[in-house]
Amino acid sequence: MSTTLTQQPSWRALEAHFQKVRDLHLRTLFAEDPKRGERFSVEAENIYFDYSKNRVTDETIKLLLELAEAVGLRNRINAMFSGEKINITEQRAVLHVALRAPKGSTIMVDGQNVVPEVHKVLEKMAAFSNRVRSGEWKGFTGKRIRNIVNIGIGGSDLGPHMAYDALRYYSDRNLTCRFVSNVDGTDFAEAVHDLDPEETLFIVSSKTFTTLETLTNARSARDWTLTKLHDEKAVAKHFVAVSTNAKEVAKFGIDTENMFEFWDWVGGRYSYDSAIGLSLMIAIGPENFYDMLAGFHAMDEHFRTTPFEKNLPVLLGLIGIWYNNFFGAETVAILPYDQYLERFSAYLQQLDMESNGKHVDLEGNTVNYQTGPIIWGQPGTNGQHAFYQLIHQGTKLIPCDFIGFCQTLNPVKPHHDLLMANFFAQTEALAFGKTAEEVKADGVPDYQVPHRTFEGNHPTNTILADRLTPNMLGKLVALYEHKVFVQGTVWNINSFDQWGVELGKVLANRIIPELESAQEPDLKHDSSTNTLISRYRELRKA
Ligand code: F6P
Repeated sequence: MSTTLTQQPSWRALEAHFQKVRDLHLRTLFAEDPKRGERFSVEAENIYFDYSKNRVTDETIKLLLELAEAVGLRNRINAMFSGEKINITEQRAVLHVALRAPKGSTIMVDGQNVVPEVHKVLEKMAAFSNRVRSGEWKGFTGKRIRNIVNIGIGGSDLGPHMAYDALRYYSDRNLTCRFVSNVDGTDFAEAVHDLDPEETLFIVSSKTFTTLETLTNARSARDWTLTKLHDEKAVAKHFVAVSTNAKEVAKFGIDTENMFEFWDWVGGRYSYDSAIGLSLMIAIGPENFYDMLAGFHAMDEHFRTTPFEKNLPVLLGLIGIWYNNFFGAETVAILPYDQYLERFSAYLQQLDMESNGKHVDLEGNTVNYQTGPIIWGQPGTNGQHAFYQLIHQGTKLIPCDFIGFCQTLNPVKPHHDLLMANFFAQTEALAFGKTAEEVKADGVPDYQVPHRTFEGNHPTNTILADRLTPNMLGKLVALYEHKVFVQGTVWNINSFDQWGVELGKVLANRIIPELESAQEPDLKHDSSTNTLISRYRELRKA
């Protein structure tokens, strides 16, 4: 059992402090300090981060910053940026920051500067993207490519898919981009049902190139293509691969000339600014993609060099620790007030939960404290008409991140002001609520008063940026990547492996032949699984 963290003096100090401030109300905190809104906010990299509507005092922030120092956050940041093998269970460096390092910089892995390699691949991607976008790259029958279908799952899908949606405003509208991830044939069938194979390019994205879902979808895509084009040679014109595994790519039948490489020091969920973003680059063009990388890099530098008290990922991470470990909050809601960020919380689910969903520390001891929270959410006002009721008046404490932009990309009057009025109103209502006296003063009948009273004191972070550009998206994603890093460091866990997804894969592989076999299989599972498999085999025949 690991008790190292909870025995730290800074942790103990936070526990004692929590007992003193746990019932403080945001109403009181704001009333006592008219400048709280300004004092508890930081502006950096064109992001205004207001954390004043959190249940924190100056002392809380001071103690959280002391905790960050005590757990050696500074050294861990340096270790990551300098290519140390901090992913200890897989003996790998963790260098997604190298993917956006400017040309000419130096980051060494195993005695080799990886930055020139990164830029070589980026240039290959840019050249290919330009050929597709200009129509120079043609399909097998000479037709122009009009459809891009990315086949991948997890980190090889969620990042490019989220970013394509987020940056659709900047995309070439003559191209149709789709994303297939689920092994459910419906995903593939629906993605291609109105497409012409002669005009369709598949990007098979898989770090390992062994993932069941992706290879199954890729095989179906090949069959679908060849059913119309009748010639194996068509594969070279309609399939490219993104992978670290050239051998498996070649085995699948894709020419490794048409492979875009990345490296084992890029984790799947940290990979969309590598070649995994090829579909995105084709959609938005290399210039916008480079602009996004510049945004990532700006946030990396902010994280690496800014003192902790003004450091956005550090503050975001530490405030999360405060609720997760002291208030006992189990979830965090991510609430973007921008339709383009529709998939942002789905993306953050993998980034955060696959990284910090761990129950042993770096030494392999079971922890005696909570680690990664449950991440969920959906955009803006839609959530207000669905689950906000529970956040406002339920029994659970749900810290929320509100993300919004001052300028809209689609100035259809009066929408943006209405959207942002809701954005501001929600954090205000969550913080301050409405007392029984205020409700009574509105003339509400007595029996309704308890039902219409809002306790308030629900914490929120507000992340307000100017405009959703590729650059800003890069900054936002890097902000959350580093927030996850900060929290993983405090919890002393390995945020960069994902053994927890292995067992399910192994068991599925054992069951596949039992479903496929023509003979009745000799099932050796538990009585529940045996019955379910038998029932499925029987009814499937009907
Ligand atoms: O879900 C487990 C996982 O290994 C993720 O970490 C990864 O992003 C995903 O599967 C896809 O893996 P690959 O890119 O190798 O196909």
